[in-house]
Amino acid sequence: MIDIYNNPELYDAIHSNYIRDEKFISKYSQKIRGPVLELASGTGRLSKVILEEGLDYTGIDLSKEFIKVAQSRFKGNGDFFLDDMRNFNLKKKFKFVFIGFNSFLHNLTNVDAAKTIECVSNHMLDNGVFLLSIYLPDPSFLIRDQNILYPATDYFFYKFNISKKDQKRLRVINFFYKEKVNIKNFTENNFNKIFYFNGRQAVIDIINYKLFKSRKVEKKLIKLIEVYKNKIIPTMPIGANVLMTKYNIPEGKILGNKLKMIEEMWVKNDFQILDKQIQKIIKG
Ligand SMILES: C[S@@+](CC[C@H](N)C(=O)[O-])C[C@H]1O[C@@H](n2cnc3c(N)ncnc32)[C@H](O)[C@@H]1O
Repeated sequence: MIDIYNNPELYDAIHSNYIRDEKFISKYSQKIRGPVLELASGTGRLSKVILEEGLDYTGIDLSKEFIKVAQSRFKGNGDFFLDDMRNFNLKKKFKFVFIGFNSFLHNLTNVDAAKTIECVSNHMLDNGVFLLSIYLPDPSFLIRDQNILYPATDYFFYKFNISKKDQKRLRVINFFYKEKVNIKNFTENNFNKIFYFNGRQAVIDIINYKLFKSRKVEKKLIKLIEVYKNKIIPTMPIGANVLMTKYNIPEGKILGNKLKMIEEMWVKNDFQILDKQIQKIIKG
């Protein structure tokens, strides 16, 4: 099983669109100023915001792969250390300490949480600020069966002010994963329908949501994302006028139904349809 925290490339690919906390962190860092300490800084997604403001920044993380990426990303700007939020001593005090993106939830016991808070407290300057960005999970979600994926869409819609566009994106993911999903279903042929009817972003969201279980699968899915990033949504080549003139079907419900069936067949056949398949639908 792949641990996403050993795989910076994968982590960054999955979170490339996640920017909603950047403004929030930036707002506080501008107000409080440095030195700034981030716990669980990862590959530097939020470090970027602080460093762009020219503040003195230190990030710690438990993943040596992530720390390595962050160090090379910012080329000596900021300090990144491999360290455990539950037990660290940087011999420095900070004006602003924060832990973003639910990372505090990696403290799975009260003892670990208390140790982290104690370490934070030891690193705070007088009048310093500690910011903990966390979502409050529904307990029934936390005790879920580990082998089943439970989409948390309803909870998020309820809890957060999610735009209509994002709600639609989440609904498409939710709908897809309601069925038992096998990696064998992740083929271009199967995704064409979603691509055509729901658009490029829907396919990319669905693939990104998949938990990667092996490097082989991960490679296949990353390749599939690339295919859909470049693919153009085709236009249905058969219109109502063709059916009306060539097959004498009058305007109305039957025409609509036939067109819908032709379109479905065309999408299923990788956006191709033969004359004889059209005729079969017309006659049937
Ligand atoms: C959800 S990621 C957040 C990363 C980054 N802050 C971001 O916003 O993209 C959680 C991070 O917590 C780190 N982590 C988990 N347990 C940790 C611990 N005990 N001490 C420090 N970092 C830890 C992981 O390595 C991972 O980088």
